Amino acid sequence: MVLSGRAHGKLILFGEHAVVHGFPATGLTLPLSTRIHLSCEADSIPKVENQAGVIKPLIPYMGPEVLGLWHEHDWHVRVKSDVPMSCGLGSSAALTGALAHAWAQGLPHLPAQDTWRMAHQAERYFHGQPSGVDTALALGQGLVTFQHATTSMLKTESCNISPFTMVVGILPRTQSTRTLVNHVNHQLKTEHDATLSLLAELGDLAVLPSVTDEAWTVLGDRANQAQILLQRLGLSTPALDHSLAAGLSAGAYGGKLSGAGGGGAFVLFCQDTDSACEVARAVTAHSVSEQNPCPLQAHIYSWDGHILHNSGDPTL
Ligand code: PMV
Repeated sequence: MVLSGRAHGKLILFGEHAVVHGFPATGLTLPLSTRIHLSCEADSIPKVENQAGVIKPLIPYMGPEVLGLWHEHDWHVRVKSDVPMSCGLGSSAALTGALAHAWAQGLPHLPAQDTWRMAHQAERYFHGQPSGVDTALALGQGLVTFQHATTSMLKTESCNISPFTMVVGILPRTQSTRTLVNHVNHQLKTEHDATLSLLAELGDLAVLPSVTDEAWTVLGDRANQAQILLQRLGLSTPALDHSLAAGLSAGAYGGKLSGAGGGGAFVLFCQDTDSACEVARAVTAHSVSEQNPCPLQAHIYSWDGHILHNSGDPTL
């Protein structure tokens, strides 16, 4: 038996952390992916290192059918990915999504919804209490708003947003998603009303109106507001704030962290690719000279109203 699966990286535009507590979030599937190849036929085992150890701890989370299939054979595993690790772009969801996609081929009687469920359960190994947004974006497509539904599945709605360009920067992370989610949980215990109100405001910003013109101004404005709320929750870092300030000085309309925070990914909304190149150059130059010894990575993505395109990597 040979099974293969693929899932994508993601970018949360608005509503990170808020979505863990039942508020909306909006995110995008990134054109970055993780592929998994599972093989249990002796003669088809490729002469490359078996990476079974990478997925072994995830198997018990994925349910009795997967556990049964796992124990039935001696699996040879190959994982390939261009999703940057541990920085807020969904590398763990891309891994669990790709794995769930592969197992779904070996368990064709399972309903399609179980692919997401398997991926989501396996995400618990990494994050403890995931909202399900990362795995839904890893297995989905496009620009989507998530609302909590009455079932355990998240309800999604596509967004009608006209074209925009953004710079996605990546800084080293100082804390893990698990630690940052726990930090917000702790704040909810010690300062319940104030924290809940910040999370509710973040959720409100995630519900985007239909935007037919100059989307970068709407998104940029909301991003600046969201970043202030995320800072108040203690999720940003001085290095991240400095990078965002450098991007805004270079012409970005607005920006914020993306994902759990503590460094990691951030997004700056720009008018067009020329402006995005200026912004990307400014944040990368700034990161080397001021805050970090290692150069920051920056990528430019353009949303054409339907699909996200990779428009370049000015740091290469
Ligand atoms: O930084 P990441 O890619 O692990 O994203 C975490 C997003 C959170 O909203 C903080 C957690 C979640 O499960 O939605």
